[in-house]
Amino acid sequence: MKNDFNCYNIADIRESARRRLPRGLFEFVDRGTEDEVSLRNNRSVYDRIRFRPRTMVDVSKRSLRTTLFGREYALPIALAPTGSAGLMWYEGEIALAKAARAAGIPFTLSTSSLTAMERVAEEAGGDLWFQLYLWPDRSMSQQLVERAKASGYKVLIVTVDGATSGNREYNIRNGFTVPFSVTTRNFFDIASHPRWLLGVMARYMMTTGMPMFENYPLEARAKMTAGPMGRASLRSDSVSWDDLAALRKIWPHQLIVKGMLDPSDAR
Ligand SMILES: Cc1cc2nc3c(=O)[nH]c(=O)nc-3n(C[C@H](O)[C@H](O)[C@H](O)COP(=O)(O)O)c2cc1C
Repeated sequence: MKNDFNCYNIADIRESARRRLPRGLFEFVDRGTEDEVSLRNNRSVYDRIRFRPRTMVDVSKRSLRTTLFGREYALPIALAPTGSAGLMWYEGEIALAKAARAAGIPFTLSTSSLTAMERVAEEAGGDLWFQLYLWPDRSMSQQLVERAKASGYKVLIVTVDGATSGNREYNIRNGFTVPFSVTTRNFFDIASHPRWLLGVMARYMMTTGMPMFENYPLEARAKMTAGPMGRASLRSDSVSWDDLAALRKIWPHQLIVKGMLDPSDAR
């Protein structure tokens, strides 16, 4: 089966992205933080997993359908939130939501995405989840929850492992910041990737203008200063169970906590 991009596995997709994207953006998706020890560790843990196939079992009628958080899906997979997806592909968040809908799985829109949550709901539909960061001014996060509720999102995922941002040293070196700006450090990187420049950035400039974090409340956008990608200046280091209790009161649907690493935190 031939596909549009001639990609048949994750390595092909990675290589295609490496060629298309300016290095600064590719590294944001592809790399880890500091010495990338966690990235290597995660990879090697997955590499050690083996399947032991059973035989003499009739598997001609098989299905990957499953129930996740009380709803049925075609696959046991949900698209995780990835901030700035809309910088990798023109209106990438809408494209991801449409792909998830076609596959019968949920799509999670990140707080740090470039397309307004209302547009994703209107133009892609499907089973939409919204990922929330809690900011020092909790009322700003609550505004997002109200918007997600009004636009039909079914699940709220609260990310709680953002007390500090990952130290993406390569992003300091490659000069890519959010909000985006062309600097002497990233100029050649951008100019040498015309498919991205014309297919993504120029299309934004001709339609909606410079890409912004469209889901941030206006006060949050005003407070933002340009910083290396992935180092949001507005995240909170004081998140506690009280915050979840407050969210529980205003969010009537499923509520998922993302980022707990120690089982004792969940007790
Ligand atoms: C480029 C990128 C952006 C991400 N942005 C977010 C985000 O905005 N919010 C969030 O909760 N997690 C974010 N994550 C974390 C992912 O949702 C996910 O938890 C993480 O990548 C681990 O899953 P994986 O092993 O399949 O990559 C991001 C991850 C990547 C690689």
